[in-house]
Amino acid sequence: MSIEVLNLKTGQKIEKEIKELGWSVEQATKGGYGHFMLKEILEQPSAIRRAIVQDKNLVTDMALDILRAKNVVITACGTSRYAALIGRYLFSKLAKKFCDVVMASEFQYFADSIDKNTLVMAVSQSGETADVMEGVKKAKEYGAKIFSIVNVVDSSLARISDNVIYLNCGPEIAVASTKAFVNQLVIFYLLSFAMVNRLGEAIEKIRKISHVVQDVIDENGNKLKEIAEKTKDRNDFYYIGRGINFAMASEGALKLKEISCIHAEGMPAGELKHGTIALIGSGTPVLAICPKDYTFHETLSNAIETKARGAFVIGVSDENNDAFDEWIKIPEVEEIFYPLVTIIPLQLLAYYIAVARGKNPDKPRNLAKAVTVK
Ligand code: AGP
Repeated sequence: MSIEVLNLKTGQKIEKEIKELGWSVEQATKGGYGHFMLKEILEQPSAIRRAIVQDKNLVTDMALDILRAKNVVITACGTSRYAALIGRYLFSKLAKKFCDVVMASEFQYFADSIDKNTLVMAVSQSGETADVMEGVKKAKEYGAKIFSIVNVVDSSLARISDNVIYLNCGPEIAVASTKAFVNQLVIFYLLSFAMVNRLGEAIEKIRKISHVVQDVIDENGNKLKEIAEKTKDRNDFYYIGRGINFAMASEGALKLKEISCIHAEGMPAGELKHGTIALIGSGTPVLAICPKDYTFHETLSNAIETKARGAFVIGVSDENNDAFDEWIKIPEVEEIFYPLVTIIPLQLLAYYIAVARGKNPDKPRNLAKAVTVK
């Protein structure tokens, strides 16, 4: 078999370089699962183990460049932006490196402050998102260095970047991103640990956590199906969390919105009392993301405030509490790694609610896998 690429107007042959993706046919099929989304959620432990296989020199060099850069801006959309918010937190926590995260569709309005002293990091599963590409092109024109975290090999974003780290999670077919998100987190862990010369430690710890992620998948299925049945007819969900868990709350809410067409908001738990608590009434589902980390007590107290107004509180935590109407148990892990385990029940709950509502999670209304238009 041969393939020829021709110029549509002139009919002339165009020479193209052939690159191997390293993706297998099995990765692009449902492999016996009802939906790609479920298959991709369940694949995450092995996807994580593939994400830690990186060129250590490249990761270290990129980490040092991030540390040395005067200004660092991360740009992304949707789920990739929530991964970037966690990256920002990790850079700050581990390496005391401040950076900003700018939504790609808003990036052009901040471009005036970009110059050759700026390092722009773009995060994208597809590497083809129009808003991301436009911002990156503009930043390049202004002299910024471009680093990217991408899944699709040789995508437009990968080609335009000065340095690329690939997610190695294989093809992600479902519109709702799951394994790409988790692998984006892994890359941010690798970079932030590399900034403080602890890359080897990160690789070992994440390898161990990939097995804990498998336990979370194995242990929560039935419970999450039950919660999905109980809550599937509600019109509004609120996801609350503080610090690093705010980004997790936002991602959990986005998953639910996308595939089940239910209004869901992820918000910092502390912001509830500044407005949103007015919307909490009898039976309103509130997902409290409160692992036993530095945010536990304050998030719990916000969850109790919603319960006092009638909320149906679903606690995602390693410790049960009287405030929870339902408890989704996650295992205790080192504080900084909680996002790798809390995300699993949030993805599965969104999936089971969508299925319980008769939706096809792989084909959400009005959405495309790669948003290549502005
Ligand atoms: C994720 O579930 C969504 N489909 C969407 O928010 C997506 O993350 C966003 O469009 C960005 O896509 P990208 O990572 O391919 O750039």
